[in-house]
Amino acid sequence: MKKLGVLTSGGDAPGMNAAIRAVVKAASHYHVEVMGIQVGFQGLIDGKIHKLTSQEVEDIADRGGTILKTSRSLEFMEETGRKKAFNRLKDLDIDSVIVIGGEGSLKGAEKLQKLGINVVGIPGTIDNDLAYTDYSIGFDTTLNTVLECIGKIKDTDYSHDKTTIVEVMGRYCGDLALYSALAGGGEIISTPERPLDLYSICSKLRLRMSSGKNDNLVIVTERMYDLQDLQHYIEKKLNISVRTTSLGFIQRGGNASAFDRVLASNMGVKAVELLMNGYSGLAVGMKENKMIHKELGCVNSEIADKQDKYRLLEKLLG
Ligand code: F6P
Repeated sequence: MKKLGVLTSGGDAPGMNAAIRAVVKAASHYHVEVMGIQVGFQGLIDGKIHKLTSQEVEDIADRGGTILKTSRSLEFMEETGRKKAFNRLKDLDIDSVIVIGGEGSLKGAEKLQKLGINVVGIPGTIDNDLAYTDYSIGFDTTLNTVLECIGKIKDTDYSHDKTTIVEVMGRYCGDLALYSALAGGGEIISTPERPLDLYSICSKLRLRMSSGKNDNLVIVTERMYDLQDLQHYIEKKLNISVRTTSLGFIQRGGNASAFDRVLASNMGVKAVELLMNGYSGLAVGMKENKMIHKELGCVNSEIADKQDKYRLLEKLLG
């Protein structure tokens, strides 16, 4: 490897900075120069590229967001945009690139590799929706943020005997909702993998209310319902008043958890090692607590088999 570029792309995720730090540190261990590409693939097209030093990344491991900034580049989806990106890399003598991001970003990484650049991807997304890896960078921090928010909502629900619907992020993946419920954050959950229709949500609520539980938390994954429609349906059916809270972008920010920092550090170093050993076209991941890698072409957001987790949930929530 002659010169390495690193970029973050798609939605930011806490821990991306820890991954950047690991990439720069590991590359400097091998005496490879690292160029920071700003604003994702768009910054690559626009030539927003500067040298990243070890000192610059020294104290960033805990910080949320990404010091490199990020974007969802429409131009890179077009062949002409990709050609511009390729020429930028050639002009600067960058032969290898590490892409940190979610599904769309790793698909972009694959496209870059097909142009003849050595590329390795690192999964960075709060959604945890990449089936090839058990965890993506950012998921754990966001899960903890969700649990903190839910805990606060539960305090006021309990005090007023209220039912609240909480909408969490995840795109089309229910992991944030599922793991929140597994961690004791909610009593009824509906996810894209196990969706509940309005009738079933009401039946579950009715059952809980008949046993004297009048404070209830329903966690749903974004994009599944119109929250107001759901609220009004339950209110009408059960004759109770219902609150709704969409946690929104608060879920994406914040200092990275220790788990995410360690995961990101492992992945950053592994990505550099793969490139040093002449590999390309791979994405690093973690399966059963071991670092793994997979061809970029096989990376997708197909929902991983979560049967065991849902079985556990049934035991806990009934
Ligand atoms: O992929 C991360 C994520 O936060 C999703 O959970 C959410 O659906 C989406 O990004 C929001 O995207 P944007 O930042 O483009 O609004």
